[in-house]
Amino acid sequence: MQETEKSNLNLLTEEDYEALAIEYEDAMNKAMASIEIMDRSMERSEGRNPFEQYESRIKEYGSVEEKCGRKGHPFTLESVKKNILDIAGIRITTAFRDDIYRVVEILHQFPDFVILDEKDYVKNPKPNGYSSYHLHIEVNIFYPGFGSKKFPIEIQIRDKAMDFWATIEHSLKYKNANLPEEKREKIEKMFRELADALTKVEEKAIKLRDS
Ligand code: GTP
Ligand code: MG
Repeated sequence: MQETEKSNLNLLTEEDYEALAIEYEDAMNKAMASIEIMDRSMERSEGRNPFEQYESRIKEYGSVEEKCGRKGHPFTLESVKKNILDIAGIRITTAFRDDIYRVVEILHQFPDFVILDEKDYVKNPKPNGYSSYHLHIEVNIFYPGFGSKKFPIEIQIRDKAMDFWATIEHSLKYKNANLPEEKREKIEKMFRELADALTKVEEKAIKLRDS
C-alpha cells in the first residue's frame, strides 16, 4: 500500500493507541476496584466466597491490529473503539465450577456495571472443550472538563481447572497452527478429552464440598 493511501485510511498509530489505552485502563481499574469490593464483601458475609483470583490486562497494540485483520475490521481509531470490546480485559477465577454462576449473579447486581452481552461457554463449551463465562460490560468514567465517557470491558469467568486448560491450550495454539490438518485434529481431540476429564474432576470436587 502507498504511504498516501495509508494516511487516507487514518490507520491507528501506536501513539494514538497508547493515548486511548490510558482511558481504557482507567475504566479497567475502576471495574477492578468494584470487583475487589464484591470480593471483600463476600468474604465478610456468611457462606463461601466465590471469588478466588482476578487479574486485568490491556490488549497490546499488535494484538489489536491482528484482531482487526482477522475479523475484517478497519484498523482505525473509530473502528477499534466500536469493534474491539476486549481492549480492557478482566479474568476472574473460581475454585468450583458452580461458583462461576454466583459471580455472574453478583456482577449483574452491581449498579456500576452495564451488561452489554454475555456468552455462556460453560453450558455450551467450544468444540475444543473451552469453557468459560464471558461478559462485556460498560463502565462510565467522569473526566473533569470533558464529562462522562463509556468504555467496554471484557470479563471472563472460569474455574481453576479450566484456567489450567486454557493456559496450556493458549500457549500451544501458535505452535500447533503450522501442523498438518490431521495432526491438529488429533490435538484438538486430546484437548477435548482433557477438558472432559477436568469436568469430571470438578464434579467430584463439588460432591466432596457438599458431602
Ligand atoms: P477472539 O477474537 O479470540 O477474542 O474471540 P471473540 O471476540 O469472537 O470472542 P470469544 O468469546 O470467542 O473469545 C474471547 C476470548 O476468550 C479470547 O480472546 C480468549 O482470551 C478466550 N478464548 C476463547 N476461546 C478460547 C479457546 O479456545 N482457548 C483459549 N485458551 N482461550 C479462548
Ligand atoms: Mg479476545
